Amino acid sequence: MAARGKQSAQGGRFDLCLLRAVEYVRRGGLLRSELTLKNICVWHHPNLYASGMRYGKDRWKSTWEVILYAIKGEEAKHGKNISAYAYRKWGKGFDVFIYPQPRPLLHKAQKPLGLVMKLIDCSSNEGDLVLDPFVGSGTTAVACKLLNRDFIGFDNDPKWVEIARRRVESTTPGGNNPLKEAFG
Ligand SMILES: C[S@@+](CC[C@H](N)C(=O)[O-])C[C@H]1O[C@@H](n2cnc3c(N)ncnc32)[C@H](O)[C@@H]1O
Repeated sequence: MAARGKQSAQGGRFDLCLLRAVEYVRRGGLLRSELTLKNICVWHHPNLYASGMRYGKDRWKSTWEVILYAIKGEEAKHGKNISAYAYRKWGKGFDVFIYPQPRPLLHKAQKPLGLVMKLIDCSSNEGDLVLDPFVGSGTTAVACKLLNRDFIGFDNDPKWVEIARRRVESTTPGGNNPLKEAFG
């Protein structure tokens, strides 16, 4: 990237959100794929202080992550008007999702179940097959079971595959109870 941050008069550095998002698109390989990028969304997790101050003293602590919404081809196969559907079912149809990080954490990069359920529910239908190649503690797999989607997951650490498997086994299928955003 040409610039990762901008120097202020006081010597502080401000991340440029757009540049960070574009960097994710580049690293995610989307520009070279057959996928069409539809949105650059944000997951804002306002409770990061609970995980300590290991980001260093020379920058603002980051409380958001990029979510890229891309589809195969030009038109989504799920047939949903995604924002309208999200508004009706989940109370909010915007591209900024506000969910606290789950506590306690099984995995240090664990995603909130409500967030993952909302994303899957709004961009697929019952019976669809969902792939998560970085399954970690199995949040996506649990969301799929709750939402009646089929699921394939990988992780290069067998420990996480086992933990995800146990989480899925203790989940009852079809418990489709929307978990709303923290400030929605
Ligand atoms: C961000 S975590 C996933 C967290 C998960 N979404 C959850 O809620 O628990 C990414 C996972 O990908 C796994 N991983 C990293 N590189 C991988 C690779 N090349 N192939 C498969 N899994 C990989 C890591 O072991 C880690 O568990």
